Amino acid sequence: MSIPSFDLKRNYARVSGEIEEALSRVLASQQFIMGPDVAAFEKEAALYLETPYAVGVASGSDSLLLALMAAGVGPGDEVITTPFSFFATASCITRLGAKLVFADVEPDSYNISMARVKDAITSRTKAFIPVHIFGQLCKIEEIKDTLLDKGITLVEDCAQSFGAHRMYGGRIVRSGGWGGFGGFSFFPTKNLGAYGDAGMVTCFDETDAKKLAGLHLHGSSSSYTHETVGVNSRLDTIQAAILRVRLRHIETWTEERREAARLYELLFAEKGLFGDITPPLETDGNRHTYHQYVVKARGRDDLHKFLEGKGITTRIYYPLPLHLQPCFASAGYKKGDMPVSESLCDEVLALPMFPELRPEEQETVVNAIGEFYRKV
Ligand SMILES: Cc1ncc(COP(=O)(O)O)c(C=O)c1O
Repeated sequence: MSIPSFDLKRNYARVSGEIEEALSRVLASQQFIMGPDVAAFEKEAALYLETPYAVGVASGSDSLLLALMAAGVGPGDEVITTPFSFFATASCITRLGAKLVFADVEPDSYNISMARVKDAITSRTKAFIPVHIFGQLCKIEEIKDTLLDKGITLVEDCAQSFGAHRMYGGRIVRSGGWGGFGGFSFFPTKNLGAYGDAGMVTCFDETDAKKLAGLHLHGSSSSYTHETVGVNSRLDTIQAAILRVRLRHIETWTEERREAARLYELLFAEKGLFGDITPPLETDGNRHTYHQYVVKARGRDDLHKFLEGKGITTRIYYPLPLHLQPCFASAGYKKGDMPVSESLCDEVLALPMFPELRPEEQETVVNAIGEFYRKV
């Protein structure tokens, strides 16, 4: 039996009728650019996320870039972020000519450490991009007031955390819900995935929303008049129509991921694998959405190869931390500067995780892991 790390075909089979209906509607309308489904999706997504404004854009990468542009980030500014993330989290900063400042992550949640962020703040810090890595929210409450006091803009990288939330002050705060900007990716393998590139920016302030609305349409608020130089970054109407269908199912799919995570943990316990394998930690008050199910594994590289030999696909997120990427060398970081992120890059392994993953497939994965550790 071969077990993929994700399987979009199984998911499509569950919604194909609804998707085909939505596609037919867009095709019949022939309104491919900024058609009615775009505004409808923005409204429905904002309602789900409990944010007042949402602007659909072309990708998650653009969502971060546009949020920083709306915040006025430019040369001379510093922006703090995590070295343990996907490339786009940091490239949006350097693309605007701002200085990249890294703060290391926590060893258990893999999320950016707010204590390290506080250490990194200077008078030039203009924005902060926390990433809710693998689907679990960072402890934003620990830094919220400091950011407000110092006038630092919060841009949450929510690419991996649609539907995740955290309890704060007795209420639920969702990913993207901490009062600044939220940048979302709907890359096909994300928990809420489109069938191509797509993204969205959320915000709380009407002025910011107006800025974003212009910036993603070439900086224009009316036809052929450009107040600023923006970007061509629209959410495609076909993708919006697909996302509207898929949004209706996101709660079910999230719960299925959470169920699969519980089963992995049970199976690790049954097989006595704790110690060799450290499962992901759902920190207090969090609803982890398991965009990825990332364990720490003893002898990670050998295990990765062993599982591959058994037809089980696992992935390494991330093999190289951002502060050591060649293109960011001018930021001035070297090996040893972010020790937690660096060691995670040598230890972590993402096991198969998607809503339709079958319990018997999980058992096969865990049995194979057990077999590996009995041999080494
Ligand atoms: C943490 C993070 N930020 C940003 C992005 C960029 O999103 P996109 O691929 O939609 O441009 C991704 C996508 O993989 C991501 O995982």
